[in-house]
Amino acid sequence: MMRTIAMIGTGYVGLVNGTCLAHIGHQVQCCDANLDKIELLQQGSIPIYEPGLEALVAENVTAGRLSFTSDIASAIEQSELLFIAVGTPMSETGAADISYVRAAAELIGRHLTVSKTIVIKSTVPLGTGRNVENWIRMAMPDPHIPFDVVSNPEFLREGSAVADFMKMERCIVGAIRPEAAKLVADCFEPLGTRTHFTSPESAEMIKYAANAFLATKISFINAVANLCERYGADVEDVARGIGSDSRIGSAFLRAGIGYGGSCFPKDTHALSWMADQAGYEFGLLKEVIHTNEEQKYMLLRKLVQALGDLHGTKIAVLGLAFKPNTDDMRDAPSLALIPALVAAGAHVRVYDPVAMTEARKWFGNSVEYGTGVYQTISGCDACMIVTEWNEFTSMDLNQVRQLLAKPIIVDGRNCYSPAIMQEHQIEYHSIGRTATVNTEANYNYIVS
Ligand code: NAI
Repeated sequence: MMRTIAMIGTGYVGLVNGTCLAHIGHQVQCCDANLDKIELLQQGSIPIYEPGLEALVAENVTAGRLSFTSDIASAIEQSELLFIAVGTPMSETGAADISYVRAAAELIGRHLTVSKTIVIKSTVPLGTGRNVENWIRMAMPDPHIPFDVVSNPEFLREGSAVADFMKMERCIVGAIRPEAAKLVADCFEPLGTRTHFTSPESAEMIKYAANAFLATKISFINAVANLCERYGADVEDVARGIGSDSRIGSAFLRAGIGYGGSCFPKDTHALSWMADQAGYEFGLLKEVIHTNEEQKYMLLRKLVQALGDLHGTKIAVLGLAFKPNTDDMRDAPSLALIPALVAAGAHVRVYDPVAMTEARKWFGNSVEYGTGVYQTISGCDACMIVTEWNEFTSMDLNQVRQLLAKPIIVDGRNCYSPAIMQEHQIEYHSIGRTATVNTEANYNYIVS
């Protein structure tokens, strides 16, 4: 059945959910406190890079199912379901900052004059659903009007968010009243997804536990990779070998320079903080976080190993977004690596297929901005691969060798096989595999 929905918060999650909910037949108003964002969207521009989203937004706006507004109060008043999809960034203590959720809840409360269902999409600490209920009630002109708060955490992956929504693997609905749970589950009914009905607290925990578990797989394989290097094993073979055991599974076993992005770092910290608050020592999770922090600097160590003192060197960095197919740079490994390179005295030229505008906000004038893969690496003493965009995994290695001042690649994403690099006489340092280092003799041969 078609529902009227207000999506409060039109970021990565809100915009994708709002658009996709409209696409499956609902009447959606996406609203945001950021007026520039809403203005852009009203003009037909999409503020984020997400494959397939722009066309879907245009289609649903034209069909009259989707609109954008900065008048959040009116959207609240006109809708049956109010989704909260605002940010919950990491605060200084490691806890999730839920001030945006509280602000949204209080605004809802001020405009709640008839019964409605509030759906929490944002990733929020356990117990937040109950707090949201209180914040709304305290702000309501008439606190006797009944309403429901339902937890419906989001699992989309940036870069494939539209497809993830349309082929939703599962839907988690945490509610106190079964009628409210059913109302929310029915919104996703056209997707034919499996719905798990839980308590609000369990739904909140499912989101954190899922991200913490995936982060654990990544830190685990990275630790194994570091050991592989010491014993001459190849982590790619090891990951394939263990991943083909169905009890383990092959996903999230790619060794690299650690997880980043807007979710895993903050959600692992938030869960660890919640454990501390409850007096439970979640040592395993703390170690996952620690391993990830260490791994971020692995590439820098390998570069120093290859070049020695970085002062005065020219380094190309390919990939700035935290993963391919997104322009999101929140907690991206590049944010740790690049300032460290600059601090070590290197001249850094960076390139990313879509995150260049975003990158300028982070790096300002501290780096040079390349215009393409080959222009970026031209004349550099080494090339570092930080994000595995297709452009970087399919480079013409003959050209790469000719353009680099020194044929050295330090690859944080294991985009190539060491054998291919050896064939192209490129010194290659990757993660969890033996480096292919050119001897002085064959280096002279390469540059001659
Ligand atoms: P975002 O930062 O891209 O978007 C949040 C939006 O909320 C911003 O546009 C901001 O202006 C707006 N906002 C903040 N306070 C507001 C208020 N009081 N009223 C109206 N708008 C307000 O954040 P993103 O990435 O969309 O994440 C949202 C939530 O979803 C977070 O809790 C996050 O952990 C969770 N999540 C994010 C995923 C992702 O891949 N980005 C995946 C799964 C969950």
